Formats: sequence, C-alpha cells, structure tokens
Amino acid sequence: MRINENTLLEGNQVVLVPYNADHVPRYHEWMKSHELQQLTASEPLTLQQEYDMQRSWREDEDKCTFIILDKQRWADSSVQEEQCMVGDVNIFLTDPSDPSLAELEIMIAEPSYRGRGIGKEVTCMMMSYAVTKLGIQKFEAKIGLDNQVSIAMFKKLHFHKLSMCKVFKEVTLGLTVDDSVRTKLLADTAYMKERDYRQTCSNRQELTSP
Ligand SMILES: CC(C)(COP(=O)(O)OP(=O)(O)OC[C@H]1O[C@@H](n2cnc3c(N)ncnc32)[C@H](O)[C@@H]1OP(=O)(O)O)[C@@H](O)C(=O)NCCC(=O)NCCS
Repeated sequence: MRINENTLLEGNQVVLVPYNADHVPRYHEWMKSHELQQLTASEPLTLQQEYDMQRSWREDEDKCTFIILDKQRWADSSVQEEQCMVGDVNIFLTDPSDPSLAELEIMIAEPSYRGRGIGKEVTCMMMSYAVTKLGIQKFEAKIGLDNQVSIAMFKKLHFHKLSMCKVFKEVTLGLTVDDSVRTKLLADTAYMKERDYRQTCSNRQELTSP
C-alpha cells in the first residue's frame, strides 16, 4: 500500500516506519532462522525474492507493512537505521468483497526484544492506524497451535477463537471493532504520534523520550 510510504508512527518503545529496500538485507538475515520460519509459517526466500516481496508489500493495495524500530536507538542519528530494526507488522486485506476485514501479522524478530511489551504495543498501534486510516472493523490473526506466546498475546488483546484448522495446525483468532473496542483502542494509543517519515529521518533526536 502506498498510503503509509511516508508515515512514521511513534510509540513509547518503538517507531514504526514504512518497509523500504534499505531494510531488506537485515530482514533477509532474520528469515534464515528456522525458528522464525516456523513461528511465522514462512518459506525461506532468496535475497532477490525478498526485494521483490518488499516491492509488492509497498505497491499492492491489499497490504500495509511497517518495520519496527527501537525508538531509543533510532533517536541517536549516529546509529544506522538497519541496526535499529526489531521486527515487522503487517495488515492484509484478505477479502476483496469486504475491505473492512484485515489479517494481522506481527514478528518481533530479535529475541532479546521479546517479552518486553513491544508486541502488545505494536499490535495496538497497528490496529489503531488500521481502524482510523484504513477503515478496518474486523481483525483476524492466524497462529500456529504451538505458538502459545502469540496466542496469549492476542487473547490479552481480547481476540477470541473463530476457528481451528487441524490440518494446518493453526487457530484463527478474531476481534470485531465495535464502539467500545474502538473507544478503548484509541484511548490506549492516544499517546501515539503520526509523523512525516522523511522529515523525521533528518531530525531523529526530536523524538520524545520514553
Ligand atoms: C508473539 C510476539 C509477537 C509477542 O510479542 P512480545 O513483545 O514478545 O510480547 P509482549 O511482551 O508484548 O507480551 C504480550 C503478551 O504475550 C504473552 N507473553 C509474552 N511473553 C510470553 C511468554 N514467554 N510466555 C507466555 N506468554 C507470554 C503475555 O500474555 C503478554 O501479556 P502480559 O505481559 O500482559 O502478560 C513475539 O514474541 C514474536 O514475534 N515472536 C516470534 C514471531 C511470532 O511468533 N510471531 C507471531 C506469528 S502469529
């Protein structure tokens, strides 16, 4: 999607930035991990395929992707952006007849960043962006049955079980954004700031302290 190609979302621990070609080499390194391939149900790609995928995520109208950066590291402009990458978060519009339905995916690729509240923060930020900017009203997450951490996180965020596929060993959790969910989500992410990505890149120290 091009809508977020110059959007930066500033949270407490993270900033979300559009996935661009500079991020691909690190992303490609992450996806060599068998653990991540298994947890995210992904196939390994060549570097060239990863660049093609990045382009398609940027251009296809049914996908919206952000790269998750460590905000404190990124606020130091002497640190290369690639060195601040923590993971990614995606939204897929899976049903052409229902543009209010989105599948959500998140990956905290760097193990040392897991279990620190980042997954929850990023998921809420992405949902808030999707509800307010993309008109999403229903979220789904497809999660491997062995991925207890991810299942626990989405349940904490009030997702509930929609279906289970024993063949793919996968559960689908969902959340409908009614008025009360929307009000709570927007209140929980009221601290989030939307900025111009390119402008902020040349003035990174202006980010507020966590
Ligand atoms: C799943 C994932 C996104 C969770 O993000 P995270 O930053 O590690 O999780 P958080 O610290 O925000 O914790 C969110 C909730 O997850 C659960 N959780 C986190 N770590 C857990 C652990 N080690 N064991 C059990 N539950 C855990 C808790 O319910 C927690 O909420 P709480 O802290 O209020 O109790 C992250 O671990 C990850 O990306 N893992 C690898 C890739 C992956 O599995 N992606 C999901 C594919 S569907």
